[in-house]
Amino acid sequence: MTGSFPDAAHDLLQCVGGRSFGSVLADPPWQFTNRTGKMAPEHKRLSRYATMSLAEILTLPVAAIVDDPAHLYLWVPNALLPEGLRVLAAWGFTYKSNLVWHKVRKDGEPDGRGVGFYFRNTTELILFGVRGRKARTLAPGRSQVNIIRSRKREHSRKPDELYSLIEACSPGPHLELFARGARSGWTSWGNQAADYAPDWPTYAHNSQTDTHAGASQRLAHSSPGEDDTRGAPAKARRPRRAPGASE
Ligand SMILES: C[S@@+](CC[C@H](N)C(=O)[O-])C[C@H]1O[C@@H](n2cnc3c(N)ncnc32)[C@H](O)[C@@H]1O
Repeated sequence: MTGSFPDAAHDLLQCVGGRSFGSVLADPPWQFTNRTGKMAPEHKRLSRYATMSLAEILTLPVAAIVDDPAHLYLWVPNALLPEGLRVLAAWGFTYKSNLVWHKVRKDGEPDGRGVGFYFRNTTELILFGVRGRKARTLAPGRSQVNIIRSRKREHSRKPDELYSLIEACSPGPHLELFARGARSGWTSWGNQAADYAPDWPTYAHNSQTDTHAGASQRLAHSSPGEDDTRGAPAKARRPRRAPGASE
């Protein structure tokens, strides 16, 4: 199940409309080897979202829509680290460092509910790359530790703490690729950037119940200045609870 957008590259260029960005956050719909397991985004029954082939991700014209200098924050599943590094380079960035998301329970202990063929993953990586000269992080970056500890929510949902970290450490304008819901002050692109709420069985703690999440919005391809609904609460459709839900 690939390509819910027939031409993602074309759609992306149309969305940004000639603008360029100082920072990009991307969370691609990677394809896993085991596409029938519950972990897979395109799992038939759970049908969470379509995925893209590595070739499709590699050819996205990200290099054409960024400033010099620019920063890239790229989410990559632990099993696909080599592919993540390839994508980072193909998009015109040089790998510099990484940030770790440590998924913890309410009591602060590691959240072991996830899956993993070799180890049970309680962490995910964000590859950090730069391009251009004078591409260091902004002053707050020098004291920013490279770990985010927070509770996990529904399948694939990433921590909102990353937005404020990027806003503090990296130059704007800020662009999110493969966004699920829009974000105040950011340009958001992706086939769920307009309207998103999980409609599959998931954890009780999710982006709709998490009051910390706050800034989820529903404007497609929204940009700073175009959006009247900033700060509006996320869609109030509550996902069904499934104690056995896995990701
Ligand atoms: C890994 S999820 C992003 C999750 C997001 N960072 C979050 O925290 O909720 C990948 C997203 O890419 C979207 N997507 C899949 N194929 C796409 C395509 N061809 N063009 C644009 N977006 C696509 C999926 O629908 C999904 O919303």
